[in-house]
Amino acid sequence: MDTKELKIRPETESDREAIYALHLSAFDGRFESELVNKIRAGENFIPELSRVTINDNNVVGHILLSTIVIKKDEKEIPALALAPVGVLPEFQNRGIGSALTKNALDEARRLKHRIVVVIGHPPYYPRFGFVSATKAGLSAPFDIPDEAFMVCELAPDALKGISGMVQYPQEFDEDQ
Ligand SMILES: CC(C)(COP(=O)(O)OP(=O)(O)OC[C@H]1O[C@@H](n2cnc3c(N)ncnc32)[C@H](O)[C@@H]1OP(=O)(O)O)[C@@H](O)C(=O)NCCC(=O)NCCS
Repeated sequence: MDTKELKIRPETESDREAIYALHLSAFDGRFESELVNKIRAGENFIPELSRVTINDNNVVGHILLSTIVIKKDEKEIPALALAPVGVLPEFQNRGIGSALTKNALDEARRLKHRIVVVIGHPPYYPRFGFVSATKAGLSAPFDIPDEAFMVCELAPDALKGISGMVQYPQEFDEDQ
């Protein structure tokens, strides 16, 4: 496959079914597929930051960045959560996920977002600029391995002077 043929763009309504199916095949279970639907239906959805990779008119990758907050006392600092990102199994390990992640982070930067949090595979995300969220002064609202909890500054010093707990909206609750 020539990766030059791939196109990345925001999702459209007609991509929704394919996005649902993609996460079903990329992950075990329906959590990520349902998560996308729930976020899309809520107030934290940012249309430009739900992005798909298209190959030959088919959705082969999808990423979603949506609004969350970092809470410190009464103060709420806006941030984004990266969740989920998935590539169809038969297209994995060809650079599609990396290109899509970089593209979504660039778009988020263009839209003036400053901080992105991810809970994910520790070896994968540092290549995009993610570092330990704990070391950056953030805490997670639930028990997760420290090394899986990461954060990326989209603007220089975006995390300077910021600490607090990352708050995920109810869409992320397992039993919702
Ligand atoms: C993780 C994922 C989005 C990466 O996309 P991709 O197009 O396969 O990745 P790329 O080709 O850009 O990059 C390859 C890297 O991804 C890692 N990767 C590949 N498949 C993976 C998988 N199933 N789970 C986790 N990481 C994976 C590879 O180890 C490789 O790392 P390396 O460069 O250190 O060797 C994709 O593999 C996927 O959808 N995995 C299943 C769902 C998932 O785990 N999503 C992320 C949750 S944190």
